[in-house]
Amino acid sequence: MAEEPVLQHGDWRRRLRALPVLEGRLDGLDVAALPAHPLSLLEEWLSAAIDDGLPQPHVAALATAGADGAVANRMLIVKDLTADAVWFSSSARSPKGVDLAANPRAALTLYWREHGRQVRLSGTVDAPSTEVSAADFRERSTFARREMLVDRQSSPRTDEAEAARLLESAQTALDADPEIVAPSWRAYRLTPDRMEFWAAATGRAHDRVAATRSGETWHWERLWT
Ligand SMILES: Cc1cc2nc3c(=O)[nH]c(=O)nc-3n(C[C@H](O)[C@H](O)[C@H](O)COP(=O)(O)O)c2cc1C
Repeated sequence: MAEEPVLQHGDWRRRLRALPVLEGRLDGLDVAALPAHPLSLLEEWLSAAIDDGLPQPHVAALATAGADGAVANRMLIVKDLTADAVWFSSSARSPKGVDLAANPRAALTLYWREHGRQVRLSGTVDAPSTEVSAADFRERSTFARREMLVDRQSSPRTDEAEAARLLESAQTALDADPEIVAPSWRAYRLTPDRMEFWAAATGRAHDRVAATRSGETWHWERLWT
């Protein structure tokens, strides 16, 4: 029996190379006018993305590494910016939560393609406030809260009858107490000690700068792109 080809296209290299990237007028960044704190520049870029109506400007990729050094990466939603930190939320029992419990360091990357801008942050992660975690949980949709009350994020869903039972009992718990909070839900705080900004510039070399924290002071340096 002839085997089905895995790929339907034999010319992926040509197709991918033909795709445009970093198109339109892109201005780079003014390396002579960097703020004292790099979170101010993240705030400026995120605000610009929101103001310009870019799709899902608060979606970011979070990388973690577990106790065995294996690395994992996934998209999630940035929930808040505070003076020293970026916040996201998830289950402490998920693989990322287990990674963070074993190794509380993470890297977060945001990308706004229409602006040709990328921000990378790396630093330490904690979940300092049960109140913030609870408030974050209560802001989620009913569907999301019900799933999280079942609290099996990322485990194999093998038995649909059991899944229906678990979701039903989570719904019963929610109906009985709409303020209920899943015990493993965490508002995680990533406090960066390094941030990097990359900005495309049409018709000239792109710009890239990094800020590294030493105590309370941030030191900027320009990087080769
Ligand atoms: C656009 C987008 C936003 C997401 N936002 C979140 C989020 O805020 N929190 C979360 O736990 N998972 C979120 N997810 C799902 C994660 O990408 C991931 O599948 C899930 O958290 C399990 O990750 P883990 O197995 O590495 O722990 C989002 C996925 C997408 C595509």
